[in-house]
Amino acid sequence: MLVSGKELFQAAKQGGYAVGAFNVNNMEIIQAIIEAAEEENSPVFLQASQGGLKYAGIEYIASLAKTAAEKAKVPVALNLDHGTSFAQVALCIRHGFSAVMIDGSQLPFEENIAITQKVVDMARPCGVSVEAELGKIGGVEDDISVSHAVFTDPDEAAEFVERTQVDALAVAIGTAHGVYKGEPKLDFERLEKIRNATNIPLVLHGASGVPAEAIRKAVPLGICKINIDTELRQAFTKAVHEVVHNKPEEFDPRKLLGPAREAMKEVVKAKMRLFGSAGRA
Ligand code: 13P
Repeated sequence: MLVSGKELFQAAKQGGYAVGAFNVNNMEIIQAIIEAAEEENSPVFLQASQGGLKYAGIEYIASLAKTAAEKAKVPVALNLDHGTSFAQVALCIRHGFSAVMIDGSQLPFEENIAITQKVVDMARPCGVSVEAELGKIGGVEDDISVSHAVFTDPDEAAEFVERTQVDALAVAIGTAHGVYKGEPKLDFERLEKIRNATNIPLVLHGASGVPAEAIRKAVPLGICKINIDTELRQAFTKAVHEVVHNKPEEFDPRKLLGPAREAMKEVVKAKMRLFGSAGRA
């Protein structure tokens, strides 16, 4: 069933686990995630970035995701990942998204607060949850490259949450979008301070490639939603490469996309067990 992101955030915070949020661009990715969630009896966020919506078309993504959510036996929220404008958020709400992220992290503090407040004012009466971002998460997301990550300041986070009343906050504590060159080092002390200063569900972006040990440490410190994109892309592409390599004569797209769907499903299932959301639906 399709539920508000708020429901998933609150249950995760109370239950001391994190819900996986997986990026979607087509039917097979959506099916892989939903099948994994049902097999693990886990709540889940399906999420689309602005780039993903541009690629597939918002009507296609919204229809596919809503069909998947309505058929699913587990709670599913449909989230806009890294929305950068009020218009984009409004469009997604109009298409039935049950959660949105407004990412004003590139803006000065006061402007980030102002746009986030505006989004909360619109989304709350619609029953749609709002995630915001403070600090700058490094790496490449939707072809936008952030070379200098700026870690989230706990005092600023407290003021930001107080003034915006967001449902969840994405924090910059050492992760980055995309593929890591070395092992990421997370600032757990900072995470704990942000958790104590805000007392709302926190979101970890750029979690592909973050060691399991670090995830296990971050969840009890307040991380309630964990974003994964790159590891799904890698599983998808590796499976397609294998078919192309082993059976170069294959021309049925289903014979390439079917194994890719299975490979992504295994990745999602393992993440759900790691995040502690398995068995929590
Ligand atoms: P990764 O691509 O590193 O998994 O990050 C995904 C993400 O944070 C989407 O917002």
